[in-house]
Amino acid sequence: MSTSAPVSTSVNPRKKVTTLALRQKKERGEPIVMLTAYDYPTALAEDQAGVDVILVGDSLGMVVLGYENTLPVTMDEMLHHARAVSRGARSALLVGDMPFMSYQVSAEEALRNAGRFLQQAGMDAVKLEGGRERVEAVRAIVGAGIPVMGHLGLTPQSVHQLGGFRPQGRTASAARRLLEDALLLEEAGCFSLVLESVPARLAELISKRISIPTIGIGAGVGCDGQVLVTHDLLGLFDRFTPKFVKKYADFHHEMQRAFTDYIEDVETKRFPAQEHTVEMDDREWDALLKDID
Ligand code: KIV
Repeated sequence: MSTSAPVSTSVNPRKKVTTLALRQKKERGEPIVMLTAYDYPTALAEDQAGVDVILVGDSLGMVVLGYENTLPVTMDEMLHHARAVSRGARSALLVGDMPFMSYQVSAEEALRNAGRFLQQAGMDAVKLEGGRERVEAVRAIVGAGIPVMGHLGLTPQSVHQLGGFRPQGRTASAARRLLEDALLLEEAGCFSLVLESVPARLAELISKRISIPTIGIGAGVGCDGQVLVTHDLLGLFDRFTPKFVKKYADFHHEMQRAFTDYIEDVETKRFPAQEHTVEMDDREWDALLKDID
């Protein structure tokens, strides 16, 4: 790994994105762009590319830490990665995803953990999953001045209750419940709402009925913004990806190619070449040889 100093972001001319700016984007009908990041270089690249919102998602558990689902992710793991992201991003609104069991036990615990994302990890806001059952926690966090993003539909922390990673809100009664939950979260003070894996026309209807911006993932083009898990977008895995993912690159095969080339170069001594090698002045070298004779 190169040990060069972190790249300066001081040339980035963008203004800091705020929750108010997102609301104004919705009002103007301009789509909001959100992506996940879990490390410094990715945050730097996303921020410089102009992404509005960077989510340090608890998808961290699945795409970086290799867990089967998001349930084992801890507050300490989230904070560790959130800190790295906040060092890389200057302008994007930074949202820390509250991990499983960091907000479900009590509103007080939810508030304390939400505060850690801002105080200890440089986040601007937090996200949590769930509807009516989270209203008390949302109120407590918002009441302390911490912006909260809600998350409805396929909520991965409830994977066992939902019976798998499956689309939600496909019956009239389930759709109605989702709409009610969206209205309750808006009323509780959420500044935005992720809608994951719900029918496109339901997501569009919810987006029109609430004044806060909706961010869709697998929820169609009628949302006020879109989010993808960055590792899916970059094609970092050679495995199943959900139907709603669009791969913009094939980094998995690109990494494999680079590693294979490196192995071959090392084994054939093509690497390191002269240009990768540190030299020493002949006189100093002769002096050393004389010295150690
Ligand atoms: O954890 C995550 O990456 C998320 C997004 C899919 C919205 O919650």
